[in-house]
Amino acid sequence: MSSEPIKFAYWVPNVSGGLVVSDIEQRTSWDIDYNRKLAQIAEQSGFEYALTQIRFIAGYGAEYQHESVSFSHALLAATSHLKVIAAILPGPWDPVLVAKQIATIDILTAGRVAVNIVSGWFKGEFVSIGQPWLEHDERYRRSEEFIDVLKGIWTTDNFSYKGDFYRINNFSLKPKPLQDPHPEIFQGGSSRAARDMAAMVSDWYFTNGNTVEGIKAQIDDIKAKAAAHKHPVKIGINAFIIARDTEEEAKAVLAEIIDKANPEAVNAFGHEAKQAGASSPEREGNWAKSTFEDLVQYNDGFKTNLIGTPLQIAERIVALKAVGVDLILSGFLHFQEEVAYFGEKVLPLVRELEEQKIALAA
Ligand SMILES: Cc1cc2nc3c(=O)[nH]c(=O)nc-3n(C[C@H](O)[C@H](O)[C@H](O)COP(=O)(O)O)c2cc1C
Repeated sequence: MSSEPIKFAYWVPNVSGGLVVSDIEQRTSWDIDYNRKLAQIAEQSGFEYALTQIRFIAGYGAEYQHESVSFSHALLAATSHLKVIAAILPGPWDPVLVAKQIATIDILTAGRVAVNIVSGWFKGEFVSIGQPWLEHDERYRRSEEFIDVLKGIWTTDNFSYKGDFYRINNFSLKPKPLQDPHPEIFQGGSSRAARDMAAMVSDWYFTNGNTVEGIKAQIDDIKAKAAAHKHPVKIGINAFIIARDTEEEAKAVLAEIIDKANPEAVNAFGHEAKQAGASSPEREGNWAKSTFEDLVQYNDGFKTNLIGTPLQIAERIVALKAVGVDLILSGFLHFQEEVAYFGEKVLPLVRELEEQKIALAA
């Protein structure tokens, strides 16, 4: 098991409606004041990263959506050591513009910005904003070129590139970003194409919620391919965390979320999501096997089962670490109060259990 402490990130609620498609009360707001305060609570509570989302239109609730790069910058300006990962969607975004924009933010924030390259799953969104909709694996081929170009521009002078999607001619970005060699590059997805891309070019593979066995199978596949390419890649998994003083309370919250789920919105999302991993040649990938219940948390966050007492959750986090997970990406019902509870009650137990495991192995 890695001797590095496992890291924690949280989903920035920069879209309306919270992280579950349910009419249960969610004391979470998508506005900037709530989010600035949340970012401050998170960095004081031991969270290292925050991840913004990019959406151009509503899909399943999420009626209002703040743009991810500008929102990330606002959160960075309100904090002192939190790193903020800005979601970027190739297609609407051009890699040269992203390289320039993120380099500037990196300098303005003393090297605390990162990017999450997402490949797109929502055809209606692309049609709506006049972007061509590529077939599943072609979207990943474009994302891989996008990442190659970002890295090239961030690290090389007189950079040239001739791909199927992007062409760069003798371009030197000045100034370059502060972080060496460049801001971290995360990616989202879990299909075979997503895993292959992670094994070639990304610093981090970010994926939907899963069981320990499910994520282990993905990690084994990625690590074998990454080793063949001599490319190091770290792993982050999504989890919707419900930590309560008793297991009964936590389970009752989950039952209420499902009970109050909005079936129309969940089914509409399930329909759109089939444009993602389920439409890939292997029919694997995100949402390919999700049930109605899984889809209520739109990145399968219940599957990771971080639902219970602080000790149960801490034990399950350490079990995830033991199969190679480096980071937990967390969502909550009531973000500000639950991020603080997590930092106070769960995180110290995780650190204790990690120490015990390391001592046992020594
Ligand atoms: C952690 C994570 C964050 C994501 N964030 C976004 C996002 O902000 N916007 C978006 O359009 N898609 C987002 N996605 C969707 C992915 O980019 C991808 O389209 C989807 O997971 C389907 O991938 P697959 O078909 O390779 O499994 C995210 C996925 C993950 C796992």
